[in-house]
Amino acid sequence: VEEPRTTTFDDNDQKPIGFGRMLRKEDPRLLRGRGRFTDDVQLPGMLHLAILRSPFAHARIVSVDTSAAEAAPGVKAVVTGEALKGLGLAWMPTLSNDVQAVLATDKVRFQGQEVAFVVAENRYAARDALELIDVEYDVLDPVIDVRQALAPDAPLIRDDLEGKTNNHCFDWETGDAEATEAVFARADVVVKQDIVYPRVHPAPMETCGAVADFDAVEGKLKLWSTTQAPHAHRTLYAIVAGLPEHKIQVIAPDIGGGFGNKVPIYPGYVCAIVGSIVTGKPVKWMEDRSENLISTGFARDYIMRGEIAATHDGKILAIRTNVLADHGAFNGTAAPVKYPAGFFGVFTGSYDLEAAYCSMTAVYTNKAPGGVAYACSFRITEAVYLVERIVDCLAAELDMDPAELRLKNFIKPEQFPYETKTGWVYDSGNYEPTMRLAMDIAGYPALRREQAEKRSRGELMGIGIAFFTEAVGAGPRKDMDILGLGMADGCELRVHPTGKAVVRLSVKTQGQGHETTFAQIVAEEIGIPPADIEVVHGDTDQTPFGLGTYGSRSTPVSGAAAALVARKVRDKAQLIASAMLEVTVADLEWVKGSFQVKGDPGKAVTIQQIAMRAHGAGDLPDGVEGGLEAQICYNPSNLTYPHGAYICVVDIDPGTAQVKVRRFIAVDDCGTRINPMIIEGQVHGGLTDGVGMALMEMIAFDEDGNCLGASLMDYLIPTSLEVPDWETGYTVTPSPHHPIGAKGVGESATVGSPPAIVNAVVDALKPYGVRHADMPLTPSRVWDAMRGRATPP
Ligand code: CDP
Repeated sequence: VEEPRTTTFDDNDQKPIGFGRMLRKEDPRLLRGRGRFTDDVQLPGMLHLAILRSPFAHARIVSVDTSAAEAAPGVKAVVTGEALKGLGLAWMPTLSNDVQAVLATDKVRFQGQEVAFVVAENRYAARDALELIDVEYDVLDPVIDVRQALAPDAPLIRDDLEGKTNNHCFDWETGDAEATEAVFARADVVVKQDIVYPRVHPAPMETCGAVADFDAVEGKLKLWSTTQAPHAHRTLYAIVAGLPEHKIQVIAPDIGGGFGNKVPIYPGYVCAIVGSIVTGKPVKWMEDRSENLISTGFARDYIMRGEIAATHDGKILAIRTNVLADHGAFNGTAAPVKYPAGFFGVFTGSYDLEAAYCSMTAVYTNKAPGGVAYACSFRITEAVYLVERIVDCLAAELDMDPAELRLKNFIKPEQFPYETKTGWVYDSGNYEPTMRLAMDIAGYPALRREQAEKRSRGELMGIGIAFFTEAVGAGPRKDMDILGLGMADGCELRVHPTGKAVVRLSVKTQGQGHETTFAQIVAEEIGIPPADIEVVHGDTDQTPFGLGTYGSRSTPVSGAAAALVARKVRDKAQLIASAMLEVTVADLEWVKGSFQVKGDPGKAVTIQQIAMRAHGAGDLPDGVEGGLEAQICYNPSNLTYPHGAYICVVDIDPGTAQVKVRRFIAVDDCGTRINPMIIEGQVHGGLTDGVGMALMEMIAFDEDGNCLGASLMDYLIPTSLEVPDWETGYTVTPSPHHPIGAKGVGESATVGSPPAIVNAVVDALKPYGVRHADMPLTPSRVWDAMRGRATPP
C-alpha cells in the first residue's frame, strides 16, 4: 500500500522536516561497524570477569574452595557468595518485589545460577580459573513440572523466604467471576480449550554485559551496561550499594537488541561492580550465548485454560480463563507493581463482551528466573494468543468463518473510549476497516476457494486470522510504578544559537531508530530539520529521569514528552518572534519552521533566526529569559491501544508435516505514523519473531532440570529462509490523548503473529479433526496432531 506523501521537504537535502519516510540517522554509524557496544569499551588497566554457574537445577552448597583458582596465573580476585554475604550483597531486589541471589550462598535453584566469579587479566585466564574452583554440592530433587510445583510433597525451592512452606509465588484475578458464571450458564455454546504458551527466550544478537569502573578517590561508579532502562537500574544500584545516585553513572551505549531481555538487573552487572570495587580496576563482564540462554530472562511459560461462551448465531458473550504461570526460581519479571501478571487483563481482546474473568496462580520452579516482556507490553502476547485461539475454536464449533465471527463481535467505533470487563479503557479504535483491508490485500474469498479446491485434492492449506488490540505506553503514575518509581518520562530540548538542537531522552533505543524518530517528532513541532537535531540518550548523567524502553512505551510516553517539550520551546519562540516582528503574539501564525504575521507572509522569522535572537545581543520581551530551551516530565493519562489484523497462509507437507508460511498479511494501526519505513522494519522483525515462536522456539528442560535450549543449535530462531515476503498495510486511528496521536508499534507484530500462524496450521489440519495444537508447531508436533496424539506441554 502506497504511503501518501504528507511530508514537507527541506529544499536543501530533501529530507522530511517532520513525519515521513527518512533513512535512519544512526545507520551510517551502525552499518559501517562504528557502533560502540558494551563489549567495545576498552579502559586502561581493565580486567575481565567470568562467572561460575551451577550445573544443577537444585542443590545445597556444601563448600566452595577457591584456593587453586586464586593461585592461577593472571587471577586478581575470586569472589563467592559467602564473601558477598559479608558485604550485604549476596541478595538483590528484583524489579518485581522479590529477591534474587547475586551469588548463591545456601542453595542453587536453577541450572546456570551464579555461584562465584573470577576477575583476571584477560578473559581466557578468568575462564580457565573457573575450572579450578571446587564446589561440593548436595543435589536435591528439582521441581521442573509446573503442575507439580504446588503438590504437597513438592521440594521447597524458596526456603530463603521466611515462613515459606510451598512453591506458591502469587495469586491474581481480574474481572467478575459470578457475573461471568451467570453468562456462561445461559449461553447456547461453550467452548473450552487448554492452551500452552511455552517458555521462549528473547535471544538478542548481543548478549548481556557490563564494564564497571569504580573510582575510589571520587567515590564514583561508572557503569556501561546492556540495559533498556538506565535510570531505573541506577536507582536500584543506589539502593543496593548504598551509593548516592549522583555518584553512579549508568551508560547504555549502542545495544544489539533488547526485546525485554535487557530490562532485569542480572547478577553479572552487580558482580562487575563488586569486581571493580574489590580490585580497584575497571572490570568487564560479557556473557556468552549459552549463559544468555540459560540464565537470563525467559518469556511466557503460561498454561492457560480458555473458555468462551456465545449464542448459536455467533455473538460472543463472555471469556473466562485460568492460568498457571511458571516464574522460575526467582520472580524476575519487571511489571508495574499493581500488575503482577502484567497486562494479561486485556485477554478480552477486541470484542464487546458481557462478562470476563481470569484467575491465575504463579509458582516457583527450578528454572531460570524471568517472565520478561519479550517484545510485548508485559503479558499482552499471552493474552492475545489466548483470545485469538479460543475465538478460532469457537468459529470451528459454530462452523462459522473466523473472519465473519470477528467482524460480528468487534467493539464498534462509536463505543470508544471503551471500558473492558476487566477495567481497561481502550482509547480509540476502528477495527472493521483494518480487518477489511487485510482481507482485501489477502484476497480472502479467493484464498478460501483455493483452499477448498486443494482440500478436495488432499493438499493441506490453512488460512489463519488474528486480530489484536495491544495496551502500550506504561503508564499513568496513578496506576503504574516499578519498585515505587512512577512511569513518567522526562525530556529536555535545547536549541543552540545557530538553530541546531539537542533533545535529551530518558528512553534508550536498542535498534528501533530513536535517534531518527525522536528528531522527527521535534522537527515536526519546531520545524528544524531532523539532521540538525541531535538525540542524546542512554546516559544517566546526560539525560532526565525516566523508566526506559520496553513494552513499546517509548513513543507513547517519551514521544509525547518530546512533542510537548518542543511545543514549550515554540511558545517561547513565539514571544520572541512577536518582539522581532513588532506585532502581538495573537497576530502571528506558525507555518512549520517560522512565525509569520497573519495575512502578510512576507513578514516572517524562521526558528533559526529566533534562536539567534534568543541568545543574541539586545533586550528580549519583558519576562522572557535568554536562551531557547525547555524541559518536561510527561505523565500519560492513559495507555495507547494500537490494533491490527493479520492473515497467514500456510501449506503443510502431508508427508513430512513441515509447515511453510506462504503468505502473511499484516495491517497495523498505530495511530499517527512518525516514520513509515521504521514502522515497517519493526513489523517485519516482529513477524519474523512470531514465525520463530509459532514454529520452532522453545526452552525445554529434562527431568533433572537441564536446560535443553542452551545454544542456538538447540534453540532455533528463524532466518530469512523461513519467512515469506511480508505484505503490510495500515490504517490510522490516532490516540485522542497523545499530543501527536501516536500509539506504540514496536511489538505489535510479535504479539499478533503467533495466533495467526497457529490458527492457519490448525485450519490446514481441519480434515484431520484437529482443533488445537500447542506451539512450537515443529514437524513432529504437527505430525502428532495429524495422528491424534496430544502434544506434550
Ligand atoms: O518503545 P519502543 O521504541 O520499543 O517502541 P515504539 O514506541 O513502538 O517505537 C518503535 C519505533 O517505531 C520507534 O523508532 C518509533 O518512533 C517508531 N514509531 C513510529 O514511527 N510511529 C509510531 N506511531 C510508533 C512508533
